[in-house]
Amino acid sequence: MNMESSMTRWLIAIGLLLLPSLHLQATPWQDVPAAEVEAQLDKKFADGKYSPKGADTCLTCHRKSATVMAMFDGAHGNLDNPKSPMADLQCEACHGPLGTHNKKNSKDPMITFGLNSPVPAEKQNSICLSCHNDEERMAWQGNHHDNADVPCASCHQIHVANDPIRDKSQEVAICTQCHTEQRAQLHQRSAHPLKNNQMVCSDCHNAHGSLADSSLKQMSVNDNCYSCHAEKRGPMLWEHAPVTDNCVNCHNPHGSVNEAMLTIKAPQLCQQCHASVGHTGNAYFNGQPNAFTAGQSCMNCHGQIHGSNHPSGNLLQR
Ligand code: HEC
Ligand code: HEC
Ligand code: HEC
Ligand code: HEC
Ligand code: HEC
Ligand code: HEC
Ligand code: HEC
Ligand code: HEC
Ligand code: HEC
Ligand code: HEC
Repeated sequence: MNMESSMTRWLIAIGLLLLPSLHLQATPWQDVPAAEVEAQLDKKFADGKYSPKGADTCLTCHRKSATVMAMFDGAHGNLDNPKSPMADLQCEACHGPLGTHNKKNSKDPMITFGLNSPVPAEKQNSICLSCHNDEERMAWQGNHHDNADVPCASCHQIHVANDPIRDKSQEVAICTQCHTEQRAQLHQRSAHPLKNNQMVCSDCHNAHGSLADSSLKQMSVNDNCYSCHAEKRGPMLWEHAPVTDNCVNCHNPHGSVNEAMLTIKAPQLCQQCHASVGHTGNAYFNGQPNAFTAGQSCMNCHGQIHGSNHPSGNLLQR
């Protein structure tokens, strides 16, 4: 996929979604090209001219913003935590040194966050990671979100009492602002109970990356499924090869138009692998409903599709 064009699409989608809540006041540097702002910020950072009075200086001007002040209701504004930004550089721990930003008619920018910032995601994220480079984010570098330049601040908010992405009733909505394909799937006929927030994306995925494909929390798709559907793990006397291989051979974990989240309906589901010779092709026989097409289709007879312990043989019967 062309990452640039897909990110542009997302930028537009998110821009539209967030428009009403965005800070719309013009900044004096808003017409300066992003690369120039970035260069200015790099220089400021190297010069390191922090304000001697910390947050107090900033708040002489920014106190009137309810958004800014809401930080003091959240984790980063906690004055009692010795690891909190408030214990050291305060606002400038994230927004960079003040420099001449507070001077009259100043065009001196501060570091900003999120998808609309002129600061590249990797630089923004390095600020967050300077305090959060712990076990949970061990696999951040090079994961899908890092590679696609998704800023931490596109999922997280700092100037709030409670970060919405960590609220299970809001997570799915935030993830699916970008992941529109999954949003469509979870509203289909059968799906994991995501649309009513009984389950969340982070039950299966680590948003910060993991060592597994698709940033799953478990090492493989099957281990992920077994973590909740333990009864499918076996061992069974008669295993069905595609089941032990990979559950997504037949299921779409995000939802499907077919029952039981099947990627395709039986008998076609089965006929992908079982060539239509012998009785496996009977589904098409004279077009009349029969044991192969009606009811559970192939499962009318091969009911134990995930494997069986049937004494008489390997036919996945009840
Ligand atoms: C003398 C007043 C003044 C002081 C002091 C001041 N700022 Fe600003 N700041 C502004 C103005 C004016 C803007 C541009 C308009 C706006 O966004 O409010 C701005 C913009 C910003 C922005 C960008 C907002 C955006 O939407 O792009 C950030 C971040 C910021 N300031 C952080 C700080 C921090 C951190 C400090 C303290 C280290 C600080 N400011 C001190 C006046 C000030
Ligand atoms: C100066 C250090 C520092 C920086 C920089 C920093 N954090 Fe934090 N962060 C903390 C501390 C300390 C806590 C509280 C941890 C705790 O209570 O266990 C915290 C908590 C959090 C939490 C969980 C609490 C909550 O708000 O729900 C999130 C999420 C978070 N930070 C994200 C970020 C992001 C995103 C950035 C960059 C925009 C960032 N942090 C920058 C120190 C920092
Ligand atoms: C794609 C969305 C997304 C992105 C991007 C993201 N996070 Fe998170 N983050 C989450 C979710 C969801 C949770 C809560 C569930 C969990 O803990 O896995 C969370 C939890 C956290 C927490 C609190 C719990 C913990 O893991 O310690 C911190 C701190 C945090 N994130 C920091 C970061 C930092 C730093 C970055 C950027 C390097 C980042 N996040 C990027 C979605 C995201
Ligand atoms: C832990 C990192 C962190 C700290 C500390 C921090 N900010 Fe922010 N700030 C952010 C992020 C991230 C955003 C983007 C909006 C959001 O995620 O809440 C932001 C947004 C802003 C904005 C634009 C907000 C708007 O109205 O849209 C201003 C102004 C600002 N911060 C000022 C401050 C001031 C003043 C302080 C100190 C009192 C401060 N920030 C402390 C990370 C931080
Ligand atoms: C029940 C576990 C589960 C839940 C819940 C879940 N996923 Fe997944 N997701 C998976 C598995 C398993 C895969 C790997 C599928 C594969 O290999 O084809 C995957 C793959 C993905 C992919 C990669 C898709 C691709 O085509 O490569 C994205 C993006 C994704 N999930 C996003 C989400 C989002 C967003 C949510 C929440 C709305 C979510 N997932 C909820 C299990 C889950
Ligand atoms: C700001 C947009 C954005 C948000 C919000 C977001 N993602 Fe993503 N996500 C992306 C992009 C861009 C990619 C990389 C391109 C792709 O694979 O689709 C990606 C990739 C992924 C992948 C890996 C897909 C693969 O190819 O294997 C998973 C899994 C995933 N995201 C899950 C989540 C979850 C869970 C959340 C919420 C906690 C979330 N995302 C929130 C933009 C976002
Ligand atoms: C975090 C727990 C969890 C994980 C992990 C999980 N599931 Fe589920 N699964 C559920 C729950 C909860 C239900 C809903 C049960 C209900 O509705 O009664 C469900 C239902 C199902 C259904 C039946 C859906 C229907 O409409 O009949 C299928 C099929 C399924 N899961 C397959 C999978 C597969 C395949 C995986 C691995 C990719 C997986 N599950 C991973 C919790 C999980
Ligand atoms: C060969 C295709 C196929 C594979 C591979 C497969 N399933 Fe299924 N699964 C089905 C079919 C067909 C159904 C429909 C209900 C039935 O008749 O059992 C189903 C139903 C389900 C159900 C809901 C009904 C029940 O039996 O609880 C769950 C949960 C489930 N599968 C989990 C899994 C898990 C976990 C894996 C991987 C270990 C997996 N499936 C692999 C074909 C498959
Ligand atoms: C992804 C490929 C695939 C799909 C889809 C699939 N199977 Fe299988 N199935 C196999 C393989 C491989 C074997 C083992 C064949 C062997 O050992 O000769 C097998 C074995 C069987 C057997 C046992 C007979 C034997 O020769 O071992 C039955 C019965 C069976 N499948 C029925 C079904 C039904 C019914 C479906 C649809 C719900 C289905 N299969 C879907 C690949 C698949
Ligand atoms: C009316 C019951 C019935 C239905 C419906 C049925 N089967 Fe069978 N199947 C059997 C019996 C009995 C055997 C063992 C005798 C034989 O080989 O014909 C068998 C054997 C098999 C075998 C192993 C031997 C071989 O022919 O390769 C496979 C694979 C298989 N069935 C797949 C399917 C698929 C796929 C469907 C759906 C299109 C299906 N079956 C529908 C009864 C049924």
